[in-house]
Amino acid sequence: MDGNSRISQTASDSTKVSDLDPHMPISIFWRLMTAKASSDGLMEEIVGLCKRRGFIFPSSEIYGGYNGFYDYGPLGVELRNNIKQTWWRDMVQRRDDIEGLDSTIIMHPDIWKASGHVDGFSDPMVDCRESKLRYRADQLFFAPVIVAGETIGYVSMVECPEQQEIAEKAAADIKRKAAKQGTLDPIVLKDYTESKPEEYDLIPSPATGKPGSLTAPREFKLMFETKVGPLADESAVAYLRPETAQGIFANYKNIVDTGRVKIPFGIAQIGKAFRNEITPRNFIFRSREFEQMEIEFFISPNADWKTLHREWIDTCIDWLVSIGLPREGITEDIHPEDKLAFYSQATTDLMFQFPHGEQELWGIACRGDYDLMQHQKHSGKSMTIFDETSKEKYVPHVIEPSLGVDRTLLAVLTAAYTIDEVPNDKGKVEQRTLLKFSPKVAPVKAAIFPLLKNKPELVERAQGLYKKLQRRWNVFYDASGAIGRRYRRQDEIGTPFGITIDFDTIEKDGTVTLRDRDTCEQRRVTEDELFQFLEEQIDG
Ligand code: GAP
Repeated sequence: MDGNSRISQTASDSTKVSDLDPHMPISIFWRLMTAKASSDGLMEEIVGLCKRRGFIFPSSEIYGGYNGFYDYGPLGVELRNNIKQTWWRDMVQRRDDIEGLDSTIIMHPDIWKASGHVDGFSDPMVDCRESKLRYRADQLFFAPVIVAGETIGYVSMVECPEQQEIAEKAAADIKRKAAKQGTLDPIVLKDYTESKPEEYDLIPSPATGKPGSLTAPREFKLMFETKVGPLADESAVAYLRPETAQGIFANYKNIVDTGRVKIPFGIAQIGKAFRNEITPRNFIFRSREFEQMEIEFFISPNADWKTLHREWIDTCIDWLVSIGLPREGITEDIHPEDKLAFYSQATTDLMFQFPHGEQELWGIACRGDYDLMQHQKHSGKSMTIFDETSKEKYVPHVIEPSLGVDRTLLAVLTAAYTIDEVPNDKGKVEQRTLLKFSPKVAPVKAAIFPLLKNKPELVERAQGLYKKLQRRWNVFYDASGAIGRRYRRQDEIGTPFGITIDFDTIEKDGTVTLRDRDTCEQRRVTEDELFQFLEEQIDG
């Protein structure tokens, strides 16, 4: 889970400790490591392609960008919309037991008091007074360097997979420089939330490598505040929602009272969420404005929640695979019982192999009746439902599959990004970059090409087909350049199908050439076959 019960992030990269100078001060050492990690191959290539081809731009780029915010360009908005539409279609429209909702971003502030966000939605952070850098305290690790029972210094670093190894090397360095005799105690790393007040001035800042500049850990509120109405005092304070889920709980009673729902049933919502993340990073993986696709699935308190939870996990995995993620890239992270929030029965995160490492993509939590009970208590409105089957009245329990749109988009881009080798028009083998998007989410579904742009009969026929296809799907018409180059341009943006109108089309049987992006295979099909094929591939 992200948010106040989130697991710590682990930066993963392929830099070998042995690649770097072992005598380097640990802070510089770590800065180099992270610099390498953030510019690490695949992520850099994906970010570059997204910018070059109009998928994603840094927000406010003409003013130097704005950390943690991203804009989606012409292809990005199509990809994003397709992900959301496919999710909505599969989770809401094609199911009889889920209803949709679109609640406001700003809601009554009491909702966030009831949900626990006002008091609890925060991350512990620590500032370096000298560098002005801010760290999440649970991502900053430190250890005392103890020789023969005497503490001779401290090592510190931002969390990374090799932290133990790095810390041990740094500690050995400190011992050598201090010319201390005796045995070095084992290095036991702790995160900064476990530091004692007397240690704050002894732990070096990862930014400067020197002690004395780190503050005590402080709770950093993640909700963005705003003011609603003409008054500028505390009574006007409201929040930009940090999750869409509370809008669902707040409307649960409306839907029960007005809909045809019966237990078990779900309410789904797609919408923006905002979190003032201390360390937004890894492109759109962790940003400050993002979008969520959430379901609250209400079940009887007597239901076999473990089985239902498992069914939801499987449904979520199947859906990810259906939009093109490789099954082997998805793993399950089951939260240990002693790490669960007090109200939570179980949480499993679906993890995906992102360019920066294996990270949470989809959280599937069993939250009991905590949220509804909180709203019942704070609002004074009953949240009970009458179960027609068991003839009982109760406050239902809930299973919550919660997925980020932007994280899904990054996963889809990661899975789709491919470099292979194919022959060009002249038969010479060339490297090509392509995005192997599933036709369901591909921003452009097909490209229509007249073989030659100076033959009016070909152009007219191609334009006619383009207009017909355009009524139904987002398609692209391209008449300029050699056909091979036109294919390549579409491969790079992930258009799954190329349709070429040639002389056989106009002079013989009306068939067109249908090219597959991934295999480059071409076959002739009639217009009817083409429409049927596209329908199956895109809408199936
Ligand atoms: N209602 C439960 C909830 O919000 P969460 O684990 O904090 O749980 C759910 O968030 C999902 O939202 C995450 O699995 C992730 O996909 C996405 N998400 C959370 N914080 C995000 C951020 N700062 N940037 C992008 N996506 C985020």
